[in-house]
Amino acid sequence: MRTPIIAGNWKMNKTAAESVAFANEIKEALNQIEGVDIVFCPPAINIPGVAKAVQGTKIGVGAQNMYFEEKGAYTGELAPNMITPFCQYVILGHSERRAYFGETDEGVNKKIKAALAHNLTPIICVGESLEQNEAGETQSFVSGQVKAAFADLTAEQATACIIAYEPIWAIGTGKSATVEQAGGIIKTAVRDAIAELYGEAAAQAIRIQYGGSVTIENINAYMSHPDIDGALVGGASLKPGFVDLVKGAI
Ligand code: 13P
Repeated sequence: MRTPIIAGNWKMNKTAAESVAFANEIKEALNQIEGVDIVFCPPAINIPGVAKAVQGTKIGVGAQNMYFEEKGAYTGELAPNMITPFCQYVILGHSERRAYFGETDEGVNKKIKAALAHNLTPIICVGESLEQNEAGETQSFVSGQVKAAFADLTAEQATACIIAYEPIWAIGTGKSATVEQAGGIIKTAVRDAIAELYGEAAAQAIRIQYGGSVTIENINAYMSHPDIDGALVGGASLKPGFVDLVKGAI
């Protein structure tokens, strides 16, 4: 069966000192929780400090982004081998990166290939806007994003990835998708797209998270859906209550 995975996307929050202090504050409690994978995704410059703080615990570390090239004149970017000493995961194609930093399906696909080549587990974000949702385009848009992300990938590569379905209208709004909405799209637009590309075994193997206003209060309901394997958590991952949220996932 698929092991649940809860990842905290800290986004652009916490200084280096705050990141390390927070990791130290909650790491022991998180380390006691069995049956769930746990990941911290701090701002890039805070990654080494957080990685050191969680060393020897079950907590994994992820970057929030990276570039697909190995090195060169790409001012402001980080190459895969710059994050691999500290990270096991990398979030790719988050809707905020797509909206504010011009990320495209094509670029996300290149980043996935680069991450896998460096043994990083990509957490690939997909999700529709409010306009697309209201126009009834969710299904086709999200499955299109999934298929574009996995272009030219083998089944083995695909199942090494994690997908996070994050409807944009649910991110940071407190307006979380209902369990039926989230689970329905995860099944019909995400898992079924993987089945179409790679067959049912791959579709059953890949882990798919929900993201968008996940809280201590609603995590348990999401996890009760057979197709939801965890959560990508923003705001609620920044506070000590994250420990209870993770406990709510098992
Ligand atoms: P919130 O949990 O703050 O809605 O953020 C979700 C998200 O974007 C995680 O990547």
